[in-house]
Amino acid sequence: MSIIAVVGNKGGTGKTTLALNLAAGLSRRDSVVVIDADPQQSAYQWRLVGGDGADLPAVVAAAHGLEQTVAALRETHRHVVIDCPPSIKAPQTEVALRLAEQALIPVQPSPMDLWATTHIARILERLRPDNPRLRALIVMSQIEPRTTLSRLMPEAAAELDLPVATAALRRRAIHRHCVLEGRTVFQAGRRGSAAAAEIDSLITEILDHD
Ligand SMILES: Nc1ncnc2c1ncn2[C@@H]1O[C@H](COP(=O)(O)OP(=O)(O)OP(=O)(O)O)[C@@H](O)[C@H]1O
Ligand SMILES: [Mg+2]
Repeated sequence: MSIIAVVGNKGGTGKTTLALNLAAGLSRRDSVVVIDADPQQSAYQWRLVGGDGADLPAVVAAAHGLEQTVAALRETHRHVVIDCPPSIKAPQTEVALRLAEQALIPVQPSPMDLWATTHIARILERLRPDNPRLRALIVMSQIEPRTTLSRLMPEAAAELDLPVATAALRRRAIHRHCVLEGRTVFQAGRRGSAAAAEIDSLITEILDHD
């Protein structure tokens, strides 16, 4: 059983995209459920677009009563992925970080986003006595290899207070198409294969730690 919280302090970094695609990748190996802990409910909406017959992990909306929802689902699923609101101080994020074994923090290639992770590291340190098992990993998100900023990211990331995943997620149009189509890159065939490979690398990296 593992609880993976996808968290962050900025909007639009790719938390929901990562949560759903990660769950879809994990579901090829084990039973997975996504808990949408964000009052915006984007993960839940995305799942609704997919419809009943879609080959997607279940998404349960639980912006309130998150602790009880996790307790109920952890009995029946190998992995619970929690998609959190864009604030590290939101009550849902705090609950998720108290329960999780793994926190994933997608960060876009911008100096401001990198600086903001220092604040996240401090909050995680404060929560450590309540949840000493928690591992946190920054995931570089929406990387554009041709830009100078993206090229400088590995160097800048090395200076951060939190470990950075070796697997990085490139900015790929297929991610946006998949939302429109109510699926993940794992259901997008050849068009999604490069993006799916990135998610799979991240999964291997996370599971290797277990
Ligand atoms: N790797 C990627 N490549 C291209 N587009 C992406 C990628 N990741 C996310 N996006 C797009 O960026 C936008 C924001 O992504 P997403 O909703 O996953 O972020 P979020 O962190 O969950 O946002 P919020 O903080 O509002 O919950 C969406 O339009 C999504 O399709
Ligand atoms: Mg989101």
